[in-house]
Amino acid sequence: MAAHLPIRSDHSLREHNTFGIAARAQCFLEVVAADMLLKINGDDDLRALPRLILGGGSNILLTGDFPGLVLHMAMKGMAAVGEDEETVYVRAAAGENWHAFVQWTLAQGYGGLENLSLIPGSVGAAPIQNIGAYGAEIKDVLHAVTVFDFTTGVTSNLDNAACEFAYRDSVFKRRLHGKVAILDVTFALPKRWQANLRYADVAQELAAHQIAAPTPQQVSDAVIAIRTRKLPDPLAIGNAGSFFKNPVVSAAVRNTLLAQYPALPAYAQPDGSVKLAAGWLIDQCGWKGRRVGAAGVYEKQALVLVNHGGASGEDIARLARQIQDDVLARFGVQLEPEPVFI
Ligand code: FAD
Ligand code: EPU
Repeated sequence: MAAHLPIRSDHSLREHNTFGIAARAQCFLEVVAADMLLKINGDDDLRALPRLILGGGSNILLTGDFPGLVLHMAMKGMAAVGEDEETVYVRAAAGENWHAFVQWTLAQGYGGLENLSLIPGSVGAAPIQNIGAYGAEIKDVLHAVTVFDFTTGVTSNLDNAACEFAYRDSVFKRRLHGKVAILDVTFALPKRWQANLRYADVAQELAAHQIAAPTPQQVSDAVIAIRTRKLPDPLAIGNAGSFFKNPVVSAAVRNTLLAQYPALPAYAQPDGSVKLAAGWLIDQCGWKGRRVGAAGVYEKQALVLVNHGGASGEDIARLARQIQDDVLARFGVQLEPEPVFI
């Protein structure tokens, strides 16, 4: 093994996943500089190991110990890197905390990321599932991504189109899965900013504070207030946010369901399909607040599975399967997990 890299053996991952699952990594490395990845690639033993690229661990489910090398992306740095008449370009390294980066852009006076405030995790993971919340997705403002390719050893740039973004999806979950590490992300933020109040909750929160013409920071504060009310803090109770994606169905399926369930929340998509609210479907099946051993469904949001303390990844996965079976039996809709199973 490469003695010049500070690789730790049999390392606990409990503090590295927001479910708080007590799994271990055979080998673990804090990646503080991109050239460490080149060294790994140049070492036959290290290259042969199964590899897990890890950010904040807020969108993974560890189903057991990891028999390989965990690369914890810890590179730091954020800066404005250019501008033109319409746009300011800002770049952040993969290891920066996402929310801290959003707050930094707002402190510089740059709007554009405020609806994505308080999403846990790292900058480098944000493009992986095209993080989204409150009427915005990272694809709306992402300019480019720098990646290191483990198969070629080459560092290159992908522009927005090359990332093939879709709802909770990107090229990094498909063709490039496991092949590249994201090193940094560049955003194109608009100089002529307009508030995005498409999501009713955000508009209502601002109205409740009598704010008619919000600043980016005020939109951020509103999003933070809503999220804090609805979602569990992983430091208090283990979770990975939404455990399932919202299912996308045809208009015909929506119509059939609506006839039987008039209260069904359904959101028409630009391509004619319809997004259903997985949280509502799970809630209707009576799962909200239920516990199966140490695994459970959050009492305020049925889409969030939680670790009440001491749950294994398999406990959470088993509960998820029970919920999937119930929703399928009752509504004929197949739920797909959002976190990555490791
Ligand atoms: P990790 O969990 O560490 O990794 C996730 C995946 O990305 C893994 O496959 C990993 O291998 C890969 N990966 C990580 N870093 C890199 C890298 N640098 N290069 C290549 N691959 C990498 N998500 C939303 O979209 N919207 C929300 O509103 C939202 N709310 C949440 C609320 C809570 C309370 C929690 C716990 C989670 C929430 N999430 C949400 C999910 C999660 O925060 C995001 O998916 C986040 O981007 C994950 O970042 P991470 O650094 O923790 O990724
Ligand atoms: N609902 C219920 N019962 C519940 C939960 C939700 O009836 O227990 C209903 C709500 O009343 C509402 C609808 O379902 O009518 C949607 O709920 P909410 O607005 O809370 O949003 P969501 O669809 O559950 C999605 C994202 C979140 C994101 C929020 C805000 C997915 C899978 N989840 O949740 O993302 O923060 O919208 O935009 O798309 C994540 O990905 O981890 C995540 C937290």
